Amino acid sequence: MKDSEFLESDFIHLNQVTKNYKDPASNIKFQALRGIDLTISQGSITAIIGPSGAGKSTLLNILGGMTFPSTGSVTVDNMLLNDLDDHGLDTYRRNVVGFLWQLPERNLLPNLTALENITFSMEVSGYPRQERITRAKELLKSVGLGNRMNHKLGQLSGGEAQRASLSVALANKPKVLLADEPTGELDSETTMEIIDYLKQLNADLGLTIVVVTHDNRFERLTHQSYNILDGSIAGLRRSRSKLDSTDWRTAEREEVAVVDQFGKVRIPSHLRQKYHFGRYIRFIEDTESGRVYIEGVEHEL
Ligand SMILES: Nc1ncnc2c1ncn2[C@@H]1O[C@H](COP(=O)(O)OP(=O)(O)O)[C@@H](O)[C@H]1O
Ligand SMILES: [Mg+2]
Repeated sequence: MKDSEFLESDFIHLNQVTKNYKDPASNIKFQALRGIDLTISQGSITAIIGPSGAGKSTLLNILGGMTFPSTGSVTVDNMLLNDLDDHGLDTYRRNVVGFLWQLPERNLLPNLTALENITFSMEVSGYPRQERITRAKELLKSVGLGNRMNHKLGQLSGGEAQRASLSVALANKPKVLLADEPTGELDSETTMEIIDYLKQLNADLGLTIVVVTHDNRFERLTHQSYNILDGSIAGLRRSRSKLDSTDWRTAEREEVAVVDQFGKVRIPSHLRQKYHFGRYIRFIEDTESGRVYIEGVEHEL
């Protein structure tokens, strides 16, 4: 597939997604997601970055067909998830998405070896035995675990366990990998190692990857990163060259902010600091170019 085809496709699309939870003790309704709009191209890596409690896991669970939004629509690969029945959701979770969770014990069954974890997952999906074994070995080798195939969870280091988890997530050839804080338990070096594997999978297989995390480092390591705060998308940074970038660390990025229904815009904190924006900013219209600039107001009003 050519890059231009990637760019044209709205592979994943969320339109005004909300999610309400009811606090069982007080019975008070709490809005965890407040109208999320999101578009993700096929073959991209997207990070959704925000602090704890922002609604990241809720969003990922909705994308994974684990829970329904309260309102709004979710489309993945031309399927409207809202419309899927139990059988449709089962098939979707098994064949379209793969999950990578923060905790290895959520990804791997502790009594099975790394190899068995993958073959088990493929068996559930009905792959023939020989294909299961061949694929499991290939997957483990591709993440550098060729010599750890017969190890169980307890015999793997944190990084190894997460690489084995990645193989399990890919066992059924998903179109989308959904990762929830995949490096939350890992040290810096191992985190970068996992990120490198994710990038490699994305490049080699054209796998679409969505990572939710509180780790800002993902911002410069992905095609686009959304900022989520209090259940709303506050802004988006993306590589200008989109999927053409060869090195996203150095790719030129544009900063896109969301204008909410009241006209409020959040200025990213690094820009506020860099340009010394205080409590007030001034708008400067350039009618000739059709642009509006902003600058800080030096003195308090
Ligand atoms: N099952 C649930 N029932 C009630 N409240 C929930 C439930 N899951 C999440 N929440 C609340 O929704 C908010 C967002 O949670 P979550 O999506 O887990 O955020 P994050 O992953 O960004 O930390 C939090 O305030 C959390 O307490
Ligand atoms: Mg979470």
